Amino acid sequence: MIDNDHAVIHTLVRDLCSSASRALAPKESKGIFSEIIRKLEEHFRDEEEVMSRHEYPDAHAHRSAHSAILKLFREGRESLIAPNGKLSVAILERGEVILSRHVDKFDFELTYFLRCKESE
Ligand SMILES: [Fe+2]
Ligand SMILES: [Fe+2]
Repeated sequence: MIDNDHAVIHTLVRDLCSSASRALAPKESKGIFSEIIRKLEEHFRDEEEVMSRHEYPDAHAHRSAHSAILKLFREGRESLIAPNGKLSVAILERGEVILSRHVDKFDFELTYFLRCKESE
């Protein structure tokens, strides 16, 4: 489930990056941003629920990382509301990098922890 979510979110971010280069209308871009944020909120909630249930020792740092990612994407969406609002390609590119790093580090460690617990 977690890996499937990652793939869906990654595709949405990619789509938004490519639409940035097609100069998509701010309203349309905002809709895609909102979709990404909604998926991230849902996904982070699920992961955080799993961490609480399993008393995951690194939960605090992992939750903080989720908050930072959400903040970044919310800022990206807000920047589109400005009168001259253009899709912030820099924020998107940063978001894409930060998300993949998060999956490679925090989510990888969580998955590893859960696998070790399962095999106990
Ligand atoms: Fe994740
Ligand atoms: Fe995570």
